[in-house]
Amino acid sequence: MKIDVQTTDYLKELIGVMTREGLLLCVAGPNGRPNAMTIGWGTVGVIWGRPIFVALVRPTRYTYGLLEAAGDFTVNLMPRNMADAVAYCGSVSGRDHDKLAERGLTPVPAKMVRSPLIDEAVLQLECRVVHRNKVEPASLPPEIDAMYNQDYHGLFYGHILAVHADPDLRSKTSTDSDR
Ligand SMILES: Cc1cc2nc3c(=O)[nH]c(=O)nc-3n(C[C@H](O)[C@H](O)[C@H](O)COP(=O)(O)O)c2cc1C
Repeated sequence: MKIDVQTTDYLKELIGVMTREGLLLCVAGPNGRPNAMTIGWGTVGVIWGRPIFVALVRPTRYTYGLLEAAGDFTVNLMPRNMADAVAYCGSVSGRDHDKLAERGLTPVPAKMVRSPLIDEAVLQLECRVVHRNKVEPASLPPEIDAMYNQDYHGLFYGHILAVHADPDLRSKTSTDSDR
């Protein structure tokens, strides 16, 4: 059972887990088969007077085309006992895998967007894409440009429309001291 919360209520946990294991970005896909990919980079803030989650997705990811087509996504923070599933979703592609089914992750309808939530998550954000742009190579310092092989991230700005949390989130989530 999850409760509706504010975006900022679990910001520390969201950023902490994104930095360590990663979060699952889930997007609706063709034939009713959604896909999840692991993200380690992203940012939460306020733009245009709205709470926004910016996801950075390389064009080579299967997720990239799904995001363009769906126009929305969900961000899912998985409990620490599902770290293997998070790693898996960051190591194979939805082009040739049904990652959710293969790792026992259950897609469930979201309230505000078409992309599903992952039921096993302890924190879920529903986001509608309101803007997108790309990393601009000409304005990158050389040490950051060196991270790329022409596959500059697309930035997808998601208006956070709803956030749902498991009230026991903190006891189910990894912390710095777990490392
Ligand atoms: C911990 C971790 C963090 C990652 N963060 C990102 C990210 O922020 N952006 C990105 O484009 N890929 C990231 N990746 C790589 C994708 O998750 C990976 O390429 C995935 O297989 C893409 O899945 P897809 O082809 O089904 O979209 C990350 C992988 C891991 C393991």
